[in-house]
Amino acid sequence: MYNEIDLDNIDINSQPPIEEPGRQYYFMAKCRELIKGFEQKNGRFPQACVVNMGCQMNARDSEKLAGILEVMGYDLVDTEEADFVIYNTCTVRENANNKVWGRLGYLGAYKKKHPHMKIALCGCMMQEDEVLEKLKKSYRFVDLVFGTHNIYKFAELMYTVFVQEGMVIDVWKDTDKIVEDLPVERKYKFKSGVNIMFGCNNFCSYCIVPYVRGRERSRKPQDILREVERLAQDGVVEVMLLGQNVNSYGKNLDEPVTFAELLMEIEKIEGIKRIRFMTSHPKDLSDELIEIMAKSDKICNHLHLPLQSGSSRILKEMNRHYDKEQYLSLVGKIRAAVPDIALTTDIIVGFPGETEEDFLETMDVVKKAGYESAFTFIYSKRTGTPAAAKEEQIPEDVVKDRFDRLLREVQSCAKERAEALTGRVEDVLVEDVNEQDNTLVSGRMGNNFIVHFPGDKSLIGKIVKVRLKECKGFYFYGELY
Ligand code: 5AD
Ligand code: SF4
Repeated sequence: MYNEIDLDNIDINSQPPIEEPGRQYYFMAKCRELIKGFEQKNGRFPQACVVNMGCQMNARDSEKLAGILEVMGYDLVDTEEADFVIYNTCTVRENANNKVWGRLGYLGAYKKKHPHMKIALCGCMMQEDEVLEKLKKSYRFVDLVFGTHNIYKFAELMYTVFVQEGMVIDVWKDTDKIVEDLPVERKYKFKSGVNIMFGCNNFCSYCIVPYVRGRERSRKPQDILREVERLAQDGVVEVMLLGQNVNSYGKNLDEPVTFAELLMEIEKIEGIKRIRFMTSHPKDLSDELIEIMAKSDKICNHLHLPLQSGSSRILKEMNRHYDKEQYLSLVGKIRAAVPDIALTTDIIVGFPGETEEDFLETMDVVKKAGYESAFTFIYSKRTGTPAAAKEEQIPEDVVKDRFDRLLREVQSCAKERAEALTGRVEDVLVEDVNEQDNTLVSGRMGNNFIVHFPGDKSLIGKIVKVRLKECKGFYFYGELY
């Protein structure tokens, strides 16, 4: 996506350009000079660690941060005992925040012994006012704080950290800006996330995302297609299109485009063999999309369709804009059109006011929808969201009991669905050598199930046929076919 030579051609003694992304390349070049100085003094390049603490969007943002750090001259490492550490935070549930405070305590202690070290925080949690207040008051050792809207400015902010004393804070409330063509360091050579939109306009009553990621903005289709074409040229065979609500992609563009239309264009790109996307909101999932999924050779037979609750009453309170019957009829339509499809979902238990009857409705949908897998969450009160103001918060023991019952149901249902696949031969994209047993490799089928089978690292990035020999619940053992 970038060319090292670009940086050599930048005159770092001139004024910074106003236009993006040129301005950021200018600051990358400035930082690179400082990092060369570090190398001359210490006989090594400084090490940087990017810690991704959130969802796939967050992971993709982390790859962008890593790309910029690498261009500047940092060696990327996995250990937090590094010269520069950045936490890309999440705040969707309270325990995500708690994790950050805990780890930051350790990192602060490490920095005391290594005072040259720099610490940065970014991502969703930084968009919250109370978090910023707490950082300013009790975590003065943090060098840089920025949010979700100006991640593209990372190089410029890093330069400020190098030349300015004290904590640098730059958190924006919102933005309509999308900056294209910045460097990215991909975790995998053969697969990549691709942002197609940012933000969310749905305001589900429990969810903090619309407040921390701002309003929905779609990237232009030509920018997305150009990125996917370049990824394909670079050896990527699988793309995951990312957005909080991909089904409403393109609605607000000057020349509106539907998500289904975008998919059809991506499908034409040579070299791309698999297309995934995440996340679909049931209220916006169109017949056109179902039709395309049924026809496509490249769109994977997996759909993540968050349910959140099976109770129509709670769904209304959650501001989800569908009810139990509509959800189940959508599932019926999808399963009929794409018989092999794996359905996965997100479910919240213990939403304020949830009764045993409401909960049983959720259990009923789980049984009827037959999920291949489900992420289950205990409701977490997020300050500032409408649900947090509701009085009927559910006692912890009741929530825990419902959570355990739901988990058992979800697991038994998933096992049953998975076991039915045993004996089949599936196309598998090999991702890695198995961590526990290096005679095995691990790969993913189109339906997102994982299979481990004998093989070596030469298979990584290839799509091979594998027979599923033994089902282990949510993964398989297999053999090359
Ligand atoms: N409490 C619990 N789970 C939540 N999610 C979003 N907000 C909350 C909350 N306040 C879950 C939803 C969403 C997933 C990404 O996180 O199920 O789909
Ligand atoms: Fe949150 Fe609802 Fe938007 Fe998903 S669709 S990010 S749950 S507000």
